[in-house]
This record gives sequence, structure tokens and C-alpha cells, in this order.
Amino acid sequence: MTNTETPTPVRVLGIAGSLRKASFNALALRAAGEMLPAGMTLEVFDLAPIPLYNGDVEAEGMPGPVRDLQRRFAEANALLIATPEYNASVPGVLKNAINWASRPGPSGGSPLGGKPLAIFGASPSSLGTFRAQYHLRQVCVNVNLLPLQQPEVFIAQAHLKFDAQGRLTDEDTRQYLRRLLDALAAWTRRLRGESRPF
Ligand code: FNR
Repeated sequence: MTNTETPTPVRVLGIAGSLRKASFNALALRAAGEMLPAGMTLEVFDLAPIPLYNGDVEAEGMPGPVRDLQRRFAEANALLIATPEYNASVPGVLKNAINWASRPGPSGGSPLGGKPLAIFGASPSSLGTFRAQYHLRQVCVNVNLLPLQQPEVFIAQAHLKFDAQGRLTDEDTRQYLRRLLDALAAWTRRLRGESRPF
């Protein structure tokens, strides 16, 4: 916050780790975009055009969609990742995108290093992606992403929480997402030095 209490901008790049049209994670990310706190904007990046990582391809030059992903990561003030859970871990499409993005970009370094991040996830099971989220947190260590610790948001039994139009109708889940977004805004501003350290 500035002295006049006007919230400074927080530009967030959102990613859902699913290519499915009716993805619960993509729908939850869309719902998050409708409840942003003051000063926050959210753009969503679709991972569908990102190819499978191949060192030979990289050696010939970064594919266009990867350059686009790296640029969007670099421009964002913070990231918001909605991860599905596949076999108790992060889906391949999401890990693949992180692998590409972690490679040196046009400015030399990875655009991920030091970037604030909030994680959540949705699944039809009663576990709500907590195992995938914990694996994702482990990956964050290596690429030096700075994930928010709390609140943790596990959207369990996701198939019961959206209506036929794909709107997130579960009020408790909406509240959890609002708290996560508020905390991401505060975390991003704190890392910028706009609020007192802990
Ligand atoms: C799953 N699913 C799943 N769910 C879960 O809670 N824990 C798990 O370990 C797994 N494992 C798993 C493996 C594979 C290969 C598939 C295809 C699915 C179910 C998964 O959560 C469900 O398909 C979600 O709907 C996927 O997320 P989106 O696409 O709805 O965002």
C-alpha cells in the first residue's frame, strides 16, 4: 500500500495444469478471476501450445509458445497455479511447462526465480490435490519460486462444486479462494518491500 492506501498493482499470471475443456482447475481459475482484490489483475495462460520439452529443440531456438510463456512469466508480478492431481503428483503438462520456463530466457536468467506464487487445486476425490500441491512446492524450491504458505486451498469433490454452466457455486470454496488471492496480494507487496517484514 502507498501512503494514500491506494493498492499498488499486482499483475498475476494464472495457469491451470489441465488441457481438458471442462477442467475443474481451469473453471476454478476463472472463478478466481471474478473475485480479485483491489489492485490485482489476472491473465490466464493456456498450456495447450507448449510442446514437450526436448533439448534438441531448445538448442535450435526456443519455440514461439515457450518464448511467449517466458515473457508472460517475466512480466507478471506473481503467479497463480491451479494444479490437478495425477497419480498423487503434478500432471505432466504442468511440470513440462515449468521445465521449459526454467530454462534461460531472452534476458539470460529464468523468469521464475524470486517470483511470488500461490497454489491451489481441484479434484473429484476427497483429497483435493494436496499430494500434487506438496510435490509442486518441492519443485518450487529448485526453480526458486516463492510460494505462499497459507492459506492452503484443496478443492475436494470438485464435481459437486460447479453448476452445469461451470460456475463455482460452493460458497465455502469461493471464500477460500478469496482469502488465497488476498494473501497473494499481501505476499507480493511484502516481497516488494511495501509492507513491514514479518
Ligand atoms: C487422475 N485423478 C486423480 N485425482 C486425485 O485426486 N488423485 C490422483 O492421484 C488422481 N490420479 C489421476 C491420474 C490420472 C492419469 C488421471 C487422468 C486422473 C482424477 C483427476 O483429479 C480428475 O481427472 C480431475 O478432473 C483432473 O483435473 P481437471 O482436468 O478437472 O482440472
